[in-house]
Amino acid sequence: MCGIFGIVGKKHRLGELIDGLKKLEYRGYDSAGIAYVANGRVDVAKQSGRVAVLEKMYEDRTSTFINVGIAHTRWATHGNPNDINAHPHTDCTGRIAVVHNGIIENFNELKQQLIDSGHFFKSDTDTEIIAHLIEEYYGGDIFDAVKKAIKRLRGAFAIGVVSADEPDKLVAAREGSPLIVGKTEGGGIIASDITPILKYTKEMYFVDDGDIIEINLNEVRFEDYYGKRRQKEPQRIDWEETAAEKSGYKFFMEKEITEEPDVIKKALTGRISEGKIRLDEISEWQELLKKIKTIKVIAAGTSYHSGMVFKYFLNELLPISVEVEISSEFRYMRQWEYDDETLFVFISQSGETLDTLESLRLVKRLGGKTLAISNVVGSTITREAEKTIFINAGPEIGVASTKAYVGQLIVLYLLGATICQAKNCSLETTFFQDLQRMPQLYENALKQSDEIREIAKKYAHFLHFMYIGRKGNYPTAMEGALKLKEISYINATCYAGGELKHGPIALLDSEFPVFVIIPKDDLYQKMKSNVIETRARNARCISLTTNDNHEAKTFSDDVIYIPHCSDHLLPLLCAPYIQLFAYHIADIRGLDVDKPRNLAKSVTVE
Ligand code: F6R
Repeated sequence: MCGIFGIVGKKHRLGELIDGLKKLEYRGYDSAGIAYVANGRVDVAKQSGRVAVLEKMYEDRTSTFINVGIAHTRWATHGNPNDINAHPHTDCTGRIAVVHNGIIENFNELKQQLIDSGHFFKSDTDTEIIAHLIEEYYGGDIFDAVKKAIKRLRGAFAIGVVSADEPDKLVAAREGSPLIVGKTEGGGIIASDITPILKYTKEMYFVDDGDIIEINLNEVRFEDYYGKRRQKEPQRIDWEETAAEKSGYKFFMEKEITEEPDVIKKALTGRISEGKIRLDEISEWQELLKKIKTIKVIAAGTSYHSGMVFKYFLNELLPISVEVEISSEFRYMRQWEYDDETLFVFISQSGETLDTLESLRLVKRLGGKTLAISNVVGSTITREAEKTIFINAGPEIGVASTKAYVGQLIVLYLLGATICQAKNCSLETTFFQDLQRMPQLYENALKQSDEIREIAKKYAHFLHFMYIGRKGNYPTAMEGALKLKEISYINATCYAGGELKHGPIALLDSEFPVFVIIPKDDLYQKMKSNVIETRARNARCISLTTNDNHEAKTFSDDVIYIPHCSDHLLPLLCAPYIQLFAYHIADIRGLDVDKPRNLAKSVTVE
């Protein structure tokens, strides 16, 4: 959940380490630090707080030339987020520095052994033991020492290591945590994700578990832990560098919501023609799709919610069982049934969520058919799943997932429709028509942003919120509540409309507003009764409803109208509205929308 970055080459400047970190800050922002080799020493600067604090410390030195440097932005696991626990960590001599993303599980045991053999520890982190272990094995060759040290580690890591004694060299290794390498002229770059590398090259190597890499001024070399050379082919990444910049928007979240019409266009391009879907990625699975009886969707957070929308969508159309599992639960389930008529779908924006990845590995070990849906080319889940459908949403930097959720929904609708097609079940033409006009409907939704902000102003001071919805819009309500709670810290809870009377309604009073997803669909009357029940408890009510609902104002305090579309697609159409509402509330409350407290975007630890 941390971000690591490193550069090797003749023409680099110190400020590049900080610029690289800024692009990775979404991965963790408790503290930041850099280390670089200069004048025969390793200079380290680290500080609790955001990268901006470090930047300030270094503002007069950003143009200093360096050949080798590493950098880190942290999401604390072991040890408080203070200056001492910030990375990079050094050995006893201060001549070896390490940045690390992951968790070393056997760190207590190793720490004791290192203390017994005379090492002195400064921090409470698991990472520091790596620096001391390398010191223990160092005999003039940092690559060799890292190779020996990492064989002793259990857990997950992506590391970058520099040594004062080998000033033109950076050593990196990966076991379980993401790491990408870019080769540049006369050097190379390492990073936890693609975005900081885009500025240097679009040709990237996706590091595998068990790889150890040396980058020097002449070459980038991959070996396994036993010294065998590994041949790698770089992959071209066509993301634009500017896609990872705010481009004048106040927050990435706002920018990313604004990009949603394009995300939809891209996800649909080439995939629908004359009411037929073409998903080339799974075209070889026609036979499987024909006979499929069970789909198990495994995901976390927002991705879990898109999986839930998929479940409701398919359940309306086909008599097949779709089960959606939270990945951190699924990976520890002892018994579950599957056969060759079962498909396992793993949804992950980042493609790195550890629980989802471990669930995938579990299913693969047992021989299940695996499909990943992800945004990040080269990510671990996409490399390990049998097949992947990419959502092609471009980099998502705001910690709260928005455009990736929309991209996931599009791909999942297409997947559902493909399964229908394979089973000769027809979807109505309006479904396809509305799917194709979705970019335009989203453009219109974005125009309602100011109106949504005006409503948000009336509710930004509340401490609690309840979201309710039914069927496909129950997950919409879940996603609305998640968005609100994670960026505004309002206690937003969510229930299926029918559940209200079974307990949650006891919470409601004039201080507990309700956000109701109430389009004019087949369950409209049921939802309307729910709203009336909440109003009878004096709860204020915001209704998100279709513009053919002429009575909404009679039972709501505020109404946000959406156009009507195929009922199947309502959860998709509601997405920008719930996102904008949460965004405006958080912004009005003066919060850092892109970097909510305690969170990190990529959850690569349990
Ligand atoms: C919420 C959010 C998270 C992620 C979750 C899974 O806005 O972004 O709930 O959806 O951490 O992440 P991925 O999809 O990368 O596996």
